[in-house]
Amino acid sequence: MPDPAAAILEWRHGLADLERIVAHGRDRLLADTTASVRRASTRRRLEHLRNGLGAQLEQIQSVFRGAGLESRARPPAEAGAPAVGDTTLSYFHQIHRDWGWPDAEIEAAAIAIAEVCGKDPLGKTLFLGAGAARLVRELHLRQGASATIALDINPLPFLVARKILDGETVRLTEIPNSPRSIDDVAVERTLGEGLEAVANVTLVFGDAFSPPVARGAFDTVVTAWFVDQVAPDAAELAPLVHALLRENGTWINHGPFVYPAARPVRARYTADELSEIARDSGFDLDSTDIRRLTFMESPACNQGRTERILTFAARKVALAAREETPSAEPAWLSDTSAPIPRLEAFRARPLPHPFFTAVVALVDGARSIDAIAAEISRQQRIPEDALRVAIRACLADLAREGSA
Ligand SMILES: C[S@@+](CC[C@H](N)C(=O)[O-])C[C@H]1O[C@@H](n2cnc3c(N)ncnc32)[C@H](O)[C@@H]1O
Repeated sequence: MPDPAAAILEWRHGLADLERIVAHGRDRLLADTTASVRRASTRRRLEHLRNGLGAQLEQIQSVFRGAGLESRARPPAEAGAPAVGDTTLSYFHQIHRDWGWPDAEIEAAAIAIAEVCGKDPLGKTLFLGAGAARLVRELHLRQGASATIALDINPLPFLVARKILDGETVRLTEIPNSPRSIDDVAVERTLGEGLEAVANVTLVFGDAFSPPVARGAFDTVVTAWFVDQVAPDAAELAPLVHALLRENGTWINHGPFVYPAARPVRARYTADELSEIARDSGFDLDSTDIRRLTFMESPACNQGRTERILTFAARKVALAAREETPSAEPAWLSDTSAPIPRLEAFRARPLPHPFFTAVVALVDGARSIDAIAAEISRQQRIPEDALRVAIRACLADLAREGSA
């Protein structure tokens, strides 16, 4: 984490926010129950929810306490109205999905991944944004990881996962937003029941976009339900994954294309764009799969959804092989002293900018990029070096559009 002390303080503040919100919510439920509710079943539902909220908070406090984290109120100036779900409870339902619900969703994900992976063991494996880490466990055990490091920045899922990976169980109450029945308004579960401890899985609080691990050290990097929801731009994540892998290492990606509202449209890639980004970033897509899977369907909740999921295993291509690939760039672009041919593409109208017009007007079949730079520099007193870069970019653009 860039600033570990600040992160820990924020987790403690988040816990204090939650304590405040739960206390307020429980008071309101009590007031509702005593004031206006006559129906016995409704009273029972409200009481069950009130007790469930209290139990859930105590269980979360206990997990935090086990990690040496006590709540701490924010300084008065910062204490606005915090949104539950943004901090302590973010990805809370994933904890239940991973370790408490029937295994169907995890099983389906593990199978889809196994099918693209083939038989080779995963070896040294890095998970980016591992969440509650059930998939970490399953891939580590089933796909032959020799050692796994998982990164995340969110405290509660990792603190619970650490206990379960060590062979303990954790009591935790789920509060579904659309319960199926009165009993389902708060469902206390023993998470991780029947699962044995797993060796060689290390959970690290660390930023996936600035990962505290050696580059070129991993046989496998896994991104699951991560690229769309978390990475600001997959086109920037792919080179990072490439750098983390050893030569011929494998990037396993599994997830849908459900972007948060704030993601700019240009970075809301589709499945075919993500595959292309992987190829452009130095990967061969050995195996891809698209299937529709159930997502976040709690046995206690009326809601749940299905998602169309892309799973791929992409192999980091040997750099030497890439370097041997002949450049698609025309000679007159790479050699700035070579004459530029009068291509059809340069006659395109309208041109996007007056600078393009000025450059194209000087393309006569004899002039080179250097010669055009010298001419414009003489006319407009702009340094030739800067012009050369701009002219090259402008002609490359036109040539690319002309050949598209
Ligand atoms: C949609 S969840 C997926 C979790 C998990 N991969 C799974 O399969 O269930 C995205 C995860 O990324 C984590 N995350 C968000 N930003 C992160 C960052 N900068 N570094 C590491 N993890 C991050 C979140 O805390 C969350 O656990």
